[in-house]
Amino acid sequence: MLFDFEFYNPTKVFFGKNAMNNLGTELDKYGKNILLVYGKSAIKKIGLYDEVVKVLNDCNKNVVELGGIKPNPTYAQVMQGAELVRQHGIDLILAVGGGSVIDCAKAISVSAYCKQDAWQKYWVDFKPVDNKIVPVASILTMVGTGSEMNAGSVITNEETMIKEGRVFSPEVNPVFSILNPEFTYTVPKLQMVSGIYDIISHLCEQYFSGTDDCTSDYLLEAIMNSVIFSTRAALINPENYEARSNIMWSATVALNKITGVSKEHDWMVHGIEHQIGAYTDCPHGVGLAIVSIPYYRHIYKYGLPKFVRFAKNVWSVEGKGRTDEEVALEGIARLEAFIKEIGIPLSLRKIGATEDMLPKIANSIAPGGHYKRVECDEILQILRECY
Ligand code: NZQ
Ligand code: ZN
Repeated sequence: MLFDFEFYNPTKVFFGKNAMNNLGTELDKYGKNILLVYGKSAIKKIGLYDEVVKVLNDCNKNVVELGGIKPNPTYAQVMQGAELVRQHGIDLILAVGGGSVIDCAKAISVSAYCKQDAWQKYWVDFKPVDNKIVPVASILTMVGTGSEMNAGSVITNEETMIKEGRVFSPEVNPVFSILNPEFTYTVPKLQMVSGIYDIISHLCEQYFSGTDDCTSDYLLEAIMNSVIFSTRAALINPENYEARSNIMWSATVALNKITGVSKEHDWMVHGIEHQIGAYTDCPHGVGLAIVSIPYYRHIYKYGLPKFVRFAKNVWSVEGKGRTDEEVALEGIARLEAFIKEIGIPLSLRKIGATEDMLPKIANSIAPGGHYKRVECDEILQILRECY
């Protein structure tokens, strides 16, 4: 563990089939005015909306609702929520849904009492939060982002066509999160595999950096192996509790900071996807999967030992009689085959990108990387390779 680090995660997690039994006790710890934030229709269809409202009523809460949060939540919706928080003196924001709903709730939390333009302050200038934060809690229904146990908030500004992620300080983490894997049984297959690839990408983007022997890399490999195994089981039977619960906890752990300590990371795949998302509104994990393969083929030579290790420890590629380069490429090919196996289309065209968007997307992304710094012209090349 060569780099010093600080680890602090204040989210209390209730996990399992009976996790909802804790909702009332937790709600009792906060004031009366609750902003209930949710997506379009999923939580009503699965009966969770009625269940949550009943607990809120039993706790004598005043409930204000903000439904209809879009996948890839918008700054306009954040402003709508911020207004409701001020108007009703909200004491707790309860997010019920996937990453988009939870991210939007966090953005509302930091923006409601922000005196300046919150977009500029928090998602452009990356300033620390120095105004009142309204506590956020979550009930998770779609797995992938890890938003239930981190301080990340990814928001799309439709006016400037920028989708920007911001990791706030731990005060913005949900104060508690309820994780019942059964709530995820109804997630449509493309959304489910999108979330699964999001987990894999979070793990890879923490893994492909450094040359030292670091415990974090062993943890990352172990979770990758678990996700790959459980995904195959969950695709055969979406109501396989063992598999769905493994995937759910893997997602949480993959981005609650524990697996990334004492490491530098390479978040370029996310950086590129966010702008693809801004232009196409594609499911987040689908965009990540499309970009990953050409991106890793572009950089693997610069971090060869780690790509060889990935091939051997995650995909059981045999090294005997082959060059390191052949082994590394085989690892990337196995990742590509897995993405195809789980049914993610590997083409930007298939998710609605047009050729004229590619230079605009490339030029809106900040150059970066870890093993190799990738410039805008190289990003364009990568986008063309997966078009
Ligand atoms: O809108 P509703 O009706 O709720 O339907 C949603 C939505 O259409 C549906 N869904 C959710 N739970 C369901 C369900 N459908 C049936 N049954 C259920 N139980 O799933 C669709 C997608 O939901 P969304 O919340 O958008 O998905 P996800 O969790 O993948 O969140 C994606 C957003 O999170 C950001 C992404 O960029 C994207 O904006 N991220 C947030 C991060 C963080 N906070 O740390 C990190 C990630 O890397 C990511 O960038
Ligand atoms: Zn992600």
